[in-house]
Amino acid sequence: MQHADIVSKMTLEEKAAYVSGRGAWHTKAVPRLGVDEVELTDGPHGLRKLAPGAKGGEFTNLVHTTAFPTASLSACSFDPELLREMGGAIADECLEHGVAMVLGPGANLKRSPLCGRNFEYFSEDPLLSARMAASWIRGAEGKGVATSLKHYAVNNQERRRMYVDAVVEDRALRELYLASFEGAVREGKPRSVMCAYNKVNGAYCSENAFLNDRVLRKEWGFEGLVVTDWGASADRVRGLESGVDLEMPESGTANAGRIVRAVREGRLDEAVLDRAVGRVLDFALSAPSGKTAPDAELAERNHALARRIGRESAVLLKNEGALLPLDPSAPVAVVGELARTPRYQGAGSSFLSPPRVASFLDALGEAGTPFAFAAGYRIDSDDADPVLEAEALALARGAASRGEALVVHIGLTERYESEGYDREHLRLPPNQLALLGKLAAAHERVVAVYSGGAPVETPWIGSVRALLAGYLGGQAAGESQADLVFGRASPSGKLAETWPLALEDTPAHGNFPGGERNVLYKEGIFVGYRYYTSAGKPVRFPFGHGLSYSEFSWAALELPAGVASAGSAPTARVTLSNIGARAASEVVQAYAAFPESRIERPALALAGFAKVRLEAGETKTVELPLDPAALRYWDAKL
Ligand code: BGC
Repeated sequence: MQHADIVSKMTLEEKAAYVSGRGAWHTKAVPRLGVDEVELTDGPHGLRKLAPGAKGGEFTNLVHTTAFPTASLSACSFDPELLREMGGAIADECLEHGVAMVLGPGANLKRSPLCGRNFEYFSEDPLLSARMAASWIRGAEGKGVATSLKHYAVNNQERRRMYVDAVVEDRALRELYLASFEGAVREGKPRSVMCAYNKVNGAYCSENAFLNDRVLRKEWGFEGLVVTDWGASADRVRGLESGVDLEMPESGTANAGRIVRAVREGRLDEAVLDRAVGRVLDFALSAPSGKTAPDAELAERNHALARRIGRESAVLLKNEGALLPLDPSAPVAVVGELARTPRYQGAGSSFLSPPRVASFLDALGEAGTPFAFAAGYRIDSDDADPVLEAEALALARGAASRGEALVVHIGLTERYESEGYDREHLRLPPNQLALLGKLAAAHERVVAVYSGGAPVETPWIGSVRALLAGYLGGQAAGESQADLVFGRASPSGKLAETWPLALEDTPAHGNFPGGERNVLYKEGIFVGYRYYTSAGKPVRFPFGHGLSYSEFSWAALELPAGVASAGSAPTARVTLSNIGARAASEVVQAYAAFPESRIERPALALAGFAKVRLEAGETKTVELPLDPAALRYWDAKL
């Protein structure tokens, strides 16, 4: 603790009050000791800050800030460097607005595709999730803005998130759910970690000494501030003892009174309170002072970055007969309200108010591509609209007869996914499903572009020749998607999660979202592709899948000899050649298998990855640092 001198000058009452915020988005000031309040606010796909004059409860009255692609998309870039740029760009906006801490990123693992908040999380794989989170954190922290890694831990569903007890056995907890946070903490070094609402194995995260003290601080060496999720504090005195420093938002005087009484009655060691006060001070006093001068080009620069991240991340899932890319100078028919009114972000605390949004139609206009458009369906209702359908079918038939391409935008509309609730199924809205079937009958070469924070079932896959997964692409979503559809760049995103054939196939099915009080993680370590590959279960699109407009070949794989020891990062090497006709990036992925293991292991575990850009005809030796954490297992007995 650097600020013991200040702590020693504070009264017990001042200290008890100081470990709770002021209002929703600030720490408290202690003017008598020269301590100013500082602002901490959401996160994580852009800075979300209430507009000056916004009243309490006006959650969408925000300053205009860049909406970047959500984590479920940016993870598909498999490019930590891009995430570092994103973290830095968000920090630039924080500095302009005088915000000291941005609440993010989220490193919870995707246990079920139904979780309504999966758009805010990176992956079903802990290595990918940890590396992306760490890089984002380094980008923001490197500019002096603090980050808060959330929601620690095992917050994998929205249903009953405030109180459900996630019951997880040690191996799954250590190898998967905690591993995702461990890598982000160790490599990223966030100044703060936010504890989740739920319980883990019987204790609320906000008073869980195992999570906050033993694992986070003692094992991982975290020295920063643990802050509660907003309203997550249960028993505040127990929370302090477990290592939770700052309660957010302000809770009035009740908890401060409880803390004072607990100290006076000898139930709480004052040193525990001092430690928490010291950590809040360390954060508040290290905050950048004031606001940086407004940078007139920042908004445009960040828009361009959002577009680039979207382009590097969107995943080409299917491209039969090399239908894509389309010729940007040839007329194209576009169907789907989402092409005009894009769904580019998720709902809840990460909601942003960007200065502008580029739809797919805007991008066609910008590029001068001639197009005709029909909405086809409504996004404010699930019911088919016969008039809109008829217009879309006429457009599709006309395009077919003239030999023009048909691009159909489909996706989850807002009510399907959000912070606060989970999806109930994995289907597209019924009006879109019905329309898609009819369009396929009218036009042979349908290109589908999908927007949504998480996978959907695709029983209709046979009726589209090409499918681009755009996920939630941020404010430049339409431009990134058009860049790929019209070949201004080759797709290079890879799925950061499995697209299953059906909900019934998913490993947590039947145990998600659990019962009234608890949810049993019965699938253990077999989460995501670890399950499908071990059980030999077919999927629609596997983890790591993504097509390119070019072609690559691999040769001369060199594996490090011997056993990986703790602390060393063995490196694999492979020679990669772009044998196609155009420049493109490829993600080399290394998976570990354990064929002779005496203990149960997943068939495959991601152990390393690297994204490489190659000109047509170019060959490079790719170095893949393998993560020893992906090779180890947790032995509960030891
Ligand atoms: C969310 C957090 C968010 C906080 C503040 C909570 O409900 O779970 O992710 O940072 O609100 O908005």
